Amino acid sequence: EPSILPVAERTLVLVKPDGVRRGLSGEILRRVEAKGYTLRAVRLMDATPELLAAHYAEHEGKPFYQPLVDFMLSGPVLAVVAEGNNVIAGFRSLAGATDPTVAAPGTIRGDLGRDWGLKVVQNLVHGSDSTESAAREIGLWFPELV
Ligand code: PPS
Repeated sequence: EPSILPVAERTLVLVKPDGVRRGLSGEILRRVEAKGYTLRAVRLMDATPELLAAHYAEHEGKPFYQPLVDFMLSGPVLAVVAEGNNVIAGFRSLAGATDPTVAAPGTIRGDLGRDWGLKVVQNLVHGSDSTESAAREIGLWFPELV
């Protein structure tokens, strides 16, 4: 019997080095699970320059690119595949605006993000921005899942 259930959407979430360093990995995963999303894969890992070059390829050449890559190499990252209906847009809504100083209260960045006055924004989390990005990014961070 073929299933009539839709395949739930998946997204790549990264708890960035500031989130791991500050001990917020559990709080961030708690919010993802409390929303009703399912964790399909979780791995604490060190990114590499090659992985980040692929992950952030669309931003190469932008002024924040190298500071962002250096920041992402400054400590371990918690890579997560989260699954659920509308999880791609839904996680970005949970995360809040890119800049923690303007992110709304109730969001991860709005509640927990800090302005360190640095030229690189340390905004705790990344979430894929489209189905195409999610498939590409999950393939980069979790090649064994694809
Ligand atoms: S863009 O140019 O509109 O695509 O930018 P945006 O989608 O807002 O951000 C793309 C990713 O770059 C990060 N970003 C920054 N990091 C550090 N410093 C500065 N100034 C900065 N500006 C943007 C932003 O958090 C996005 O990274 P991810 O990992 O996807 O959150």
